[in-house]
Amino acid sequence: MKVLVIGSGAREHAVVRALALDPAVDAVVAAPGNPGIEAVALCEPLPGGVTDADAVVDLARRHDVGLVVVGPEAPLVAGVADAVRAAGFACFGPSAEAARLEGSKAFAKEVMSAADVPTAMAHVCTNEDEVAEALDALGAPHVVKDDGLAAGKGVVVTDDRAAALEHARACLAKPDGRVVVEEFLDGPEVSLFCVCDGQTVRPLAPAQDFKRVGDGDAGPNTGGMGAYSPLDWAPAGLADDVVARIAQPVVDEMAKRGTPFAGVLYVGLALTVRGPRVIEFNVRFGDPETQVVLDRLRTPLGQLLLAAAEGRLAEAEPLRWSDEHAVTVVVAARDYPATPHTGDPVTGLDTLPGEPDAYVLHAGTARDADGVLVSSGGRVLSVVGRGATLGLARARAYAAVDAVGLDGSHHRRDIAERAERGEVTVPA
Ligand code: AMP
Ligand code: GLY
Repeated sequence: MKVLVIGSGAREHAVVRALALDPAVDAVVAAPGNPGIEAVALCEPLPGGVTDADAVVDLARRHDVGLVVVGPEAPLVAGVADAVRAAGFACFGPSAEAARLEGSKAFAKEVMSAADVPTAMAHVCTNEDEVAEALDALGAPHVVKDDGLAAGKGVVVTDDRAAALEHARACLAKPDGRVVVEEFLDGPEVSLFCVCDGQTVRPLAPAQDFKRVGDGDAGPNTGGMGAYSPLDWAPAGLADDVVARIAQPVVDEMAKRGTPFAGVLYVGLALTVRGPRVIEFNVRFGDPETQVVLDRLRTPLGQLLLAAAEGRLAEAEPLRWSDEHAVTVVVAARDYPATPHTGDPVTGLDTLPGEPDAYVLHAGTARDADGVLVSSGGRVLSVVGRGATLGLARARAYAAVDAVGLDGSHHRRDIAERAERGEVTVPA
């Protein structure tokens, strides 16, 4: 089978890498891919961008692929998976209708309410007065979210009421702007990816993401600065519990509405004193959690995603996992997340210490006119380390990070540090 992967981030690099390891996958085509992906897959340009459904269908035809995997949310929300399926190809990724679970936070809240899924109390607001009222009703810390897609940067969590209002104002100023003001959920966060085929749900291994830009969770939210898996501190049976209480009810509700959900339902959770509560849904693999989760998955990925795309998940063999720990650290460009500086040479990748237990996945990289590898986006690389212990995995990841050269770059030094020290606890 040939597989076409849409996207160009480190998540897609991780997906392509895992697909290439599947004996049932003969070749992988990525569009547009990136210089790292090029080493494992044929990269095809998408001049109209990843939301250009006609171009994606054209590529699927030209390469006669058996499966299309859509990585990012934008093409899913834009209906690329619908177009691919309509053209007769198996596609891993939800329809535009089902992708509204990520595309609109208000819609996600409505589905959760209908399916009786535990989440934060929320007010959907369309003007400033409603926002002010909701902030006062729910109290601090304030959580204010842009209703629509915002690449992980639409959420402000703050004790500062004025800052909360200011963010709300900015979101409301957009066309059809709506904001969701939410109850603050206290407890460690977990990302659980649930592979779904419209009916059946299979959870992958839980992971933890680090969304804030700075050590100790300082600074603004980003797309994600690092991740690790497994979570030794998480309650036994967490994944099954989340499927039973959250993912399966949501998949059942979507099926009942005639808009079945097939693809990854990414459940972002807070483990609170009152149990797991949904912070958000995404409709795709998370970045950077995918980098660590797929590092540990031993079940061939192509066969799993094809089974999901064809509605055969119930028959798929139980998932197998490596016992090792995996940690990924994101190397970000100067001034990310505000205004990332691009065009700087990226060096050190040819002589990375620790290979193959440490390796680099590319995100915002490109080749300049002379073929030199340069930065081209905010999150430039995702460096993965694995080992028999979390400490070893961290040490390998950071030794490799330290060997990378990129002027002005920054990364967090504390990815998985509290977990390694046994300091992450679930409120009893
Ligand atoms: P989201 O885009 O909804 O994932 O939000 C981004 C980040 O903001 C989350 O990963 C949390 O760290 C934080 N966050 C969002 N909603 C809440 C909430 N209700 N309570 C506490 N933190 C939240
Ligand atoms: N890691 C967060 C996200 O993919 O949205």
